[in-house]
Amino acid sequence: MKLKDQHIFVTGGADGIGAAIVLDVAQEGAKVSFCDINVEKAEAYVKDLTAKGFSVFFHQADVGNFESIRTAHAAMVKHFGPVNGVVNNAGVNANYDPAEMTNEEWERFFNVDLKSVWHTAKACLPDMRKAKKGSIVNIASIHARMTYQGYFPYGAAKSGIIGLTRSLGLDEGINGIRTNAVSPGYTLTPLLESWFVMEPTKRKESMAVQPLGRMAQPSEIAKVVTFLLSDDSSFVNGADWIVDGGLSARFA
Ligand SMILES: NC(=O)c1ccc[n+]([C@@H]2O[C@H](COP(=O)([O-])OP(=O)(O)OC[C@H]3O[C@@H](n4cnc5c(N)ncnc54)[C@H](O)[C@@H]3O)[C@@H](O)[C@H]2O)c1
Repeated sequence: MKLKDQHIFVTGGADGIGAAIVLDVAQEGAKVSFCDINVEKAEAYVKDLTAKGFSVFFHQADVGNFESIRTAHAAMVKHFGPVNGVVNNAGVNANYDPAEMTNEEWERFFNVDLKSVWHTAKACLPDMRKAKKGSIVNIASIHARMTYQGYFPYGAAKSGIIGLTRSLGLDEGINGIRTNAVSPGYTLTPLLESWFVMEPTKRKESMAVQPLGRMAQPSEIAKVVTFLLSDDSSFVNGADWIVDGGLSARFA
């Protein structure tokens, strides 16, 4: 029970890595609130987890829109009290042509994949500062360090998340609030599956370079997130935890 009675807020908690984080923190005793844009999936997940005896609350929100996050956060605080830990997980892939991408597409993508970290910080920091304690975990990616052709500008947003993690770690550390990033490698989620459907040769190619001979299960990313949320990581701040099975150790 690493997170007993803590209120943890997870973005994009209805599916993939976010859903695994919701489950893992709930199993560690947390009261979990999460937001998502997929209401149907989220409501089914809440029903399932509630039936299993976990304390879970869902409120629809688009992480790219601050007003939406502010409203969801207010409902979450009303339900479970002040937020003790935030996981910025919601994100989307990007496959734009840099010469064709429109200004609207750029804004929309960066609002979801980067600005969202600031949106939840803006909502949650006042209570965390009052409590002189808090933990923020941002899901970045190995794309913050190395990326693929055709993934413009995903790597830029994920690199930005590492930068925001450092800034928040330094600025809020004095308030007892730790901020860290987790950079997953290939993780078997609907997002990754959608890429394999788009580019069928990639499944085999991606498997061939995995040092552990397999890709991650979402629960393996969630375990690291739970550690960073908990007091077990009390001196970890401003860091980026790479959880890629050793992929970035490879000279390819
Ligand atoms: N799967 C991987 O291999 C991998 C690797 C590295 C990093 N990541 C990162 O991990 C995070 C989760 O990825 P995943 O693979 O679980 O994705 P996923 O698409 O499987 O799940 C993402 C969830 O976030 C929700 N979501 C999407 N946009 C949202 C928005 N604007 N507001 C609120 N919710 C929204 C979706 O509805 C979904 O429930 C992302 O930030 C992604 O970039 C994934």
